[in-house]
Amino acid sequence: MAAVDRAATLVRSLLAFARQQPLVPVPLDVNALVSGIAELIEGALGPSGRLDTRLAPGLGPVCADRNQLENAILNLAVNARDAMAGQGTVTIATRAVPPEEARQIPSLRDTDYVLLSVTDTGCGMAPEVAERALEPFFTTKPLGQGTGLGLSQVFGFVTQSGGHVALASAPGAGTTVSLYLPGQAAAQARTAPSGPATDPVACLGGTARPA
Ligand SMILES: Nc1ncnc2c1ncn2[C@@H]1O[C@H](COP(=O)(O)OP(=O)(O)O)[C@@H](O)[C@H]1O
Ligand SMILES: [Mg+2]
Repeated sequence: MAAVDRAATLVRSLLAFARQQPLVPVPLDVNALVSGIAELIEGALGPSGRLDTRLAPGLGPVCADRNQLENAILNLAVNARDAMAGQGTVTIATRAVPPEEARQIPSLRDTDYVLLSVTDTGCGMAPEVAERALEPFFTTKPLGQGTGLGLSQVFGFVTQSGGHVALASAPGAGTTVSLYLPGQAAAQARTAPSGPATDPVACLGGTARPA
């Protein structure tokens, strides 16, 4: 039974990377979502890890799958913990993305996005690690500790949702993983008939449960 469970988890991870997982995008208050899992993250960081949240007020809703977004943030927090060997600060920040900034990123549209970033004061990544970090099964952790399926899932989920992932990291200088998440207008622009054929990621708008 355990082997079957592990196989199912593996298949889900690969589907996530391949941007083929079933997603239920709904309008979410990303600040409320972060606050809702803050205690869980603090627990994961342990007694000498600190969580700092810097949540910009007045953000519009993002359009994403709630469970997968929580899962992505937890994955990033666990990576941060590992990189800090338990000691240091993880900062989760949110802010609106100005259209000029979205315009610089080819995969984004010229509309509304929210940036959620997870920054740690850990060991950071050498360029050759950062280059491969989003690949499935790429891990620098010992056998039994790393699966290499954390960042690849985050990448697959955010990309499938119409967003973008950026890594900024250097050895000794910590890491920031930035998730550009589509707001309502960005999600609608993506599913508009004139747009390229994409998966049926339609934000459920006003009919969804509130965030
Ligand atoms: N916050 C971080 N700081 C330093 N290195 C990181 C960080 N996040 C990820 N990495 C690097 O990227 C690799 C892949 O991460 P991930 O896909 O989550 O797999 P895993 O955590 O199982 O190794 C890690 O093994 C590590 O080398
Ligand atoms: Mg990981």
